[in-house]
This record gives sequence, structure tokens and C-alpha cells, in this order.
Amino acid sequence: MPITAVIGGQWGDEGKGKIVDLLCEDMDLVARYQGGANAGHTVNIDGETIILHQVPSGILRPDTACILGHGMVVDPVALSEELDILAQHNISTQGRIQISYAAHIVTPVHKAMDRATGHVIGTTLRGIGPAYADKARRLGVRAVDLRDTPQLREYLLGRLELGVKQGEFEPDELDTVNRELETFLAAADRLVPMLGDSISSLHHAIDTKKNILIEGAQGTLLDIDLGTYPFVTSSHPTSGGIATGLGVPVQQIDRLIGIFKSYTTRVGEGPFPTELNDEAGDRLQTEGAEFGATTGRKRRCGWFDAVAARYSCQINGFSELALTKLDVLDQFDTLQICIAYEINGTQLPGFSAAIHHLNQVSPVYVELPGWKSDTSSLKSAEELPPAARNYIQRLEELLHVPIARVSVGAERNQILTL
Ligand code: GDP
Ligand code: IMO
Ligand code: MG
Repeated sequence: MPITAVIGGQWGDEGKGKIVDLLCEDMDLVARYQGGANAGHTVNIDGETIILHQVPSGILRPDTACILGHGMVVDPVALSEELDILAQHNISTQGRIQISYAAHIVTPVHKAMDRATGHVIGTTLRGIGPAYADKARRLGVRAVDLRDTPQLREYLLGRLELGVKQGEFEPDELDTVNRELETFLAAADRLVPMLGDSISSLHHAIDTKKNILIEGAQGTLLDIDLGTYPFVTSSHPTSGGIATGLGVPVQQIDRLIGIFKSYTTRVGEGPFPTELNDEAGDRLQTEGAEFGATTGRKRRCGWFDAVAARYSCQINGFSELALTKLDVLDQFDTLQICIAYEINGTQLPGFSAAIHHLNQVSPVYVELPGWKSDTSSLKSAEELPPAARNYIQRLEELLHVPIARVSVGAERNQILTL
């Protein structure tokens, strides 16, 4: 059976949660391979909204098992809260979640460190960068270490001391961190029964021909190597991260679905060539209800950037795309798509040629007519107005990848198959 991966094509929040939930109807197993509680994946079912941060969105399908892979940085406190929220929604998580022994752990020290420096990039303050930094410095704590609470406590006190010595967080954070340690240790204890060898689980699922879905978090342009560094997250949300983050070899993944919003958004700092600081931008923000699912921050909005999106398709190797939030464009008279970047009147050959000076580029736009009609109630792609079809077709031509699904509303059933 095939392995399908769902990956954000832009700067995150493309609607991955919705598409993962949709595809999980047929999945036996869903796995996350990177990131942590910085993610906020929204699923709307019958008017009820659930936001997943670390648990894969497949948990909302009763028969899907979930894996938190070793490429993630797992926050026990946030995960424990998430399990409680799922229970409040009557979703059973018992025996359905496995956390890789080798996943790194976000501790209260990492969150204090993020609070000290995260504002430069506008991080989610979830301790993600510091946890990955400790992993790279080879002084991180891993899920396997949660089994020995006395040793874990000792480790944490040592890490706290190192943090003070190296000035890694503000001195007035010390009391907060000390207080948070007890909550952390209790939450860590709760996770111990969920720990396991996720590589064996995944390969067993592969060998027994199970349907597997891999859920990306964040987005391609936030990749630490391939994104708009330094305004990136600290992991590899691109398809390359799957092999290292889960131990699943690349050739096993036969379906790579790129998720793109019908326009562009970005949360936090960093360059954004098609950003609109005008009425159209405000309109996208309002119509799209563009507020961060994790931090509640207003998302910056702009037109679809086909230069960045083409790069994203190339580096991920997407085999098909899903276009989300088309309904948000319903009432615009005209729409613009960025088809090239210019500097001083000279066109650049593509996104990677521009990535080091994105702040200086001017987008070149093509204008398309809007459709001025409601797409959110449509039941089939045949019903799409011609101008909407034209918009979708133009994107396909620019990206060289077929768009297989178009989402026209937040609800599970608001999806059109092309
Ligand atoms: P993710 O991080 O990629 O899973 O995306 P988020 O959940 O952070 O943000 C996507 C937002 O758009 C959520 O509030 C979704 O409920 C909503 N959404 C998803 N698809 C659609 C759609 O087709 N139309 C509209 N109007 N909203 C959508
Ligand atoms: P999902 O999975 C959008 C952004 C932050 C910040 C940068 C670094 O919901 O699409 P971090 O806390 O990761 O160190 O922050 O990355 N960011 C996201 N933006 N969606 C996300 O996740 C994000 N996760 C991180 O806003 O600019
Ligand atoms: Mg999100």
C-alpha cells in the first residue's frame, strides 16, 4: 500500500490539518516527522473545531494509529494538555499514540530560552529552536530519558545551571522555570506508557501493507535549510525531512501532496514578497479569518506567489497538490498571481536566485478576473465558475503539478475533487 505525505508548500497554515483529516478516512497509521507544539492544525467537523498541535490530525478518525516520530521535539506539558482536550471532545487516545524513544524533549528551560530570543524571528515561543539546538549540541534530553524521573530531575537542574551560567535566559525566569519543572515531570510521567520503537512500528506497517500517511507541520519556506533563513523554524518540514525524521526510506513514499493556500500568508517576521499592506491584504485577512491557530497572532496576507510555490514543488517533488481556501477569494473583482521577481527592472530566474535578497525584489503580477460567486456550497468541481477554473488552471500551468483537490470551506465535506 502506498505511503502518502502531506506537506505545507508555503509558510505554514495552508490547511494541512483539514486535508490530513480527510485522507485519514482510509489510513491505518499517521505519523509526524518534525516540529512540535509550534504547529496548529485545525479540523472542523460538524461545526466543532479541534486544533491539533503535536498529536497527528489522524487521531480524529477512530481507527487510525498515531506516531510522533523521532524528528519531532515533543513538549510533554503541551501534549498532556492536548490529550485532555481530545478527551473533552470524546476522542479516545488510549493505546493509539506512540512516541518515538528518540524524539527530543522540549523542557521548561527551552521555553525560557525561546522567550529570551524568539522575538527576533517572531517564534511561537514553544521552545522549538532551543530544543533542536540542544539536540545539535548533543546535550538534549530524549523521550527515552523520561523513564527515569530522578535522573531526569538531575539533568534538568544541571541544564538550568548551565543556562544561568551561559546567560541563555533572563535571570528573572529562574523562579518560573523552577516552578514549571514539577508540572513538567508529572506530564513526562504520563507519557511513559506511550513510548516505543516507532521505526519498527512503521516498518511493520510497511511490511504488512498498511495505509500510511505522513503529516508535515510548518511549511517548505520555513525549512531551516531550504527556507527563508534565518526567518525559519528549526526543523525540516520539506519531504527530505521524512527519511531522517521517521526512518522511512525516500523510495517508499509514492505520493507527495503539497498543500497550498489560494493566496499567501505568513506569521512572524521575515521577507514576504507578495505581502499586501493595503485594503486587499486586510480583506484576505478578514475573509480568511487569518489568525494563528497556535498563538492567535494576525497572519500577514498577500497574493499567491507562484515563484515561491514553483520552488516548493521542485524541492519537495510534489506529485499532486491540494489548493485550500478558494472560497476566501469568492468576492474579489480581480485577483493577482506573482509570476516573476524583478530587481531594478531585471527578472530573476527563480526563487532560489532571490532567496538571499527577497526584501529587494518586486513581484511581477498577472491579473485574473474574479468569479464573484459563492463556491463554499459547491458539491463538485464541475460546478466551479469558469473564472475559478481559470485561476486553478493558471496555477497548475505555473507550478507544473496537477491540482487534485480544491477546498472551499473549513468543514470536512467542503472539498472538490478535480
Ligand atoms: P495548518 O496548520 O496547515 O493545518 O492550517 P491551520 O489550521 O493553521 O490554518 C488553516 C485555517 O483555515 C483553519 O482555520 C482551517 O479551519 C481553515 N480552512 C481550511 N481549509 C479551508 C477552506 O477551504 N476555506 C476556508 N474558508 N477555511 C479553511
Ligand atoms: P503549522 O504546522 C505557521 C513560524 C513562526 C516563526 C517561525 C519560527 O500550523 O503550519 P518556531 O516557533 O517554529 O521557532 O517559529 O516559524 N511557524 C509557523 N508559522 N504555521 C506553523 O505551523 C508554524 N510553526 C512555526 O511564526 O515565524
Ligand atoms: Mg497552523
